[in-house]
Amino acid sequence: MTSALSKKILVTGAAGFIGFHVAKRLLEEGHTVVGVDNLNSYYSVQLKKDRLKQLESFEFFQFYCLDVADHQAMEKMWQQEKPITHVVHLAAQAGVRYSLIDPYPYVHSNVTGFMVMLEQCRYQENFEHLVYASTSSVYGLNPSLPFKESDPVEHPISLYAATKRANELMAQSYYHLYRYPITGLRLFTVYGPWGRPDMSLFKFTKAILAGETIDVYNHGQMSRDYTYISDIVDGILAALWRPASVEPREHPLYNLGNDQKQSLMTFIEALEEALGRKANKNFLPLQPGDIVETSSDIQKAKVELGYCPKVDIHQGIAEFVEWYKTHTIYLK
Ligand SMILES: NC(=O)c1ccc[n+]([C@@H]2O[C@H](COP(=O)([O-])OP(=O)(O)OC[C@H]3O[C@@H](n4cnc5c(N)ncnc54)[C@H](O)[C@@H]3O)[C@@H](O)[C@H]2O)c1
Repeated sequence: MTSALSKKILVTGAAGFIGFHVAKRLLEEGHTVVGVDNLNSYYSVQLKKDRLKQLESFEFFQFYCLDVADHQAMEKMWQQEKPITHVVHLAAQAGVRYSLIDPYPYVHSNVTGFMVMLEQCRYQENFEHLVYASTSSVYGLNPSLPFKESDPVEHPISLYAATKRANELMAQSYYHLYRYPITGLRLFTVYGPWGRPDMSLFKFTKAILAGETIDVYNHGQMSRDYTYISDIVDGILAALWRPASVEPREHPLYNLGNDQKQSLMTFIEALEEALGRKANKNFLPLQPGDIVETSSDIQKAKVELGYCPKVDIHQGIAEFVEWYKTHTIYLK
């Protein structure tokens, strides 16, 4: 039995890296979760299914294999599952570099999919809160570091970033017109167990263990605000449960980062230490669409959400490596 305080929450992208961790935490806390994901093959479908298998072991989890851009299928799901009061919208085509190779899924999933979500939340009775994922990539060519929510975001340098900035603008228009609570979260390079195989930590680990060379872009002169998955889940849920107001002119946007940017070389050294092996490095120029440095100012999330990241890069990478060693099948 769920308690009187438990809620019914829709998590989209539930078979994805962050969606899986968010859904799992919510289920562990006694909530009912409706998960939606289209299980696309951008990366290992088996990894997505194995995440889902864990969620399906909880009694109060219901999964729908759906495309969030399919408004009729989504409408049917809402009808079957009502009342859903909260949404964590994470389904998206992620990845900066892939958006230069195949741009269409970015518009389909990130723009049309988000449109469907905004429109459908609008009609739910007693609806309480839509929280959606944006990204540090929206800061694009913004020259001042660390990135603050109030900084200019008019210069996205990849289509991925442009679709996520479009989400922020679309959300603002719905918030203005229909006055239901919406919160956007700009996530900074999330990593950890059950992570995404297209991200550098996964790729580097695989290559180092196989004795292969790793590609180090911009000759290693890059830095990121690497943020551990459990900290991100804390931040997402703090935002979700924050008593939502529709009074301010703009819907709230928060940076969720780690507040401690690390150079790419430090990141690689921490990984070498955790693996007990040195990497063979192939230094390459900057890739189109890549931001050289990301660094978050998380003061706003600290004050308003009580967000406080706890896991440093050495601990986080060690946790990832521990997990990876028993889950190497996903990068075949
Ligand atoms: N991981 C990061 O470092 C990071 C950083 C910034 C923002 N984000 C954002 O966080 C969210 C989650 O990212 P992630 O790292 O977990 O990525 P992920 O690819 O692991 O998860 C996204 C999930 O959404 C699903 N999906 C994609 N298109 C869909 C569609 N049209 N209909 C239904 N499901 C669909 C995918 O199958 C996948 O399981 C995304 O919105 C992403 O843009 C992630």
